[in-house]
Amino acid sequence: MIEKFLSADARNLRPSAIRALAKYINDPKVISFAGGSPNPETFPAERFAAIADRVLRERRNVSLQYGPTRGLPRLCEFVAARSRVKSEEVILTTGSQQALDLISHCLLDAGDIVAVELPTYIGGTSAFYARSATLAGVAQDDDGIVPESLDDVARKKRIKLLYTIPNFQNPSGRLMSQRRRDRVLEIANRHDFLIVEDDPYGDLVYVEGADTTPIKSRDRDGRVLYLGTFSKILAPGVRCGWIVGPKSLIDRVEIAKQAADLCSGMLDQSIIDEYCHAGELPGQIENVRAFYRGKRALMLSALQEHFGGRAHWTAASGGLFTFMTLSDSIDTASRIETAVANGVTYVPGSPFFVDGSGQNTMRLTFAKESDERLREGVQRLAHVFA
Ligand SMILES: Cc1ncc(COP(=O)(O)O)c(C=O)c1O
Repeated sequence: MIEKFLSADARNLRPSAIRALAKYINDPKVISFAGGSPNPETFPAERFAAIADRVLRERRNVSLQYGPTRGLPRLCEFVAARSRVKSEEVILTTGSQQALDLISHCLLDAGDIVAVELPTYIGGTSAFYARSATLAGVAQDDDGIVPESLDDVARKKRIKLLYTIPNFQNPSGRLMSQRRRDRVLEIANRHDFLIVEDDPYGDLVYVEGADTTPIKSRDRDGRVLYLGTFSKILAPGVRCGWIVGPKSLIDRVEIAKQAADLCSGMLDQSIIDEYCHAGELPGQIENVRAFYRGKRALMLSALQEHFGGRAHWTAASGGLFTFMTLSDSIDTASRIETAVANGVTYVPGSPFFVDGSGQNTMRLTFAKESDERLREGVQRLAHVFA
C-alpha cells in the first residue's frame, strides 16, 4: 500500500550490510571481529554517572530543556578551541552520522556526484544515497587516496564533493600520508569540488610518528568540511559530533538541523561539556589509546602467525580496524556462514566498495574481544580460510 507513496529519495535508501550481521556479533559463542563499536570498557561510565547526577539535579533548566540548535555554547567553544577555529564555524550534531546527513541535505541534489574512497564507510554512502547522489569510487593504496585516480575521476565527471576518512579509515585502517593530503586538496582546488573530511579515529593513535594532521588545517578558502565526534574517545551512546566549516555553510546546516531535531540531546551535551570543562578529556584519550594499543599489536602478530605469506593486511597504526586482502579467488562473503559455524565472524569487504569489488577482502576489528579470544579468533579464521 505505502510503496506507491514513497519519495524518490526513500526509494534510494539502502540498508546497511553490516547491521545484518548484528545477530552474530552478540552471540557469545562466536568470536567477533565484525563489530564497529568501541569497547565499553573504555567508557568513562563512573564519571558520567556522577556528572549526570549533578547536571540533572542542579542544571535541569539546561540538561532537560530544549537547547540551542548549534549546541551548548561552552561545548561549541571547547570544540572550536581544539580545532583552532572560531565558534561560529562549529555546529554540534547528533553524532557525526547526523553531520553526514545534514551536509548531504544541504549540498546534494539527485544525480550529484560524490567521490568516495574504495573502500569507504557505509554510513557515509548511505547518507549520500539517501539524497539520490551518484557515487564514484577512487582508488587507495597504503598511503591513502591515489591522486591520479582522483584526478582521473574529476576529469571524467563533475564531482561536487569528495568524502574522505584520512585517519585510520573505516574500514581499511589506513592513514593517509601528509603528502597525499596536500595532493588531494590541490586536486580539489583545481577541479573546484568540496571535501568532507570525516575524522572519528584521529585521536586513537597507537604508533609513534603517525601524523594525523587534518586536511582542514591547510584549507585557506573554506573548501573542507571537517567532521569530528566524541563517539570513539568517550562513548557513542552520548550522541555528540560536530562539523567545522565556513560560517555560511554552518548557518545553512543550522536551519536544516532545526527541521531535523531542533537540537541534539541536551543531557548528552551537558555531561560531555562538564567532563571536558573539568579537563578530563586528554587523560581519557590516553587511557583509550593504551587500551587498544595492545589489542592491535596482538591481532597483527596473530595475523602474521596464521596468514603470513598468503594474505596482506593494513598496518592500522590507529583506529579500530585492520583490513585483510586474501588471494583473488577467495570470496569472503560466501564463507561467512562457515566462519560462524567455526565460532568466528568478520565483515566481508565487498559492501564497502561502491564499485562492487573487494570480494577477497574483510574488515577485522580488534576492539571487542579479550586478548585470549583475539588469538583464538584469528586461529579459527585461519582454519576457515585454510
Ligand atoms: C567513518 C565514520 N564516520 C562516522 C561514524 C559515525 O559516528 P557517530 O557515532 O559520531 O555518529 C562512524 C562510526 O563508526 C565512522 O566509522
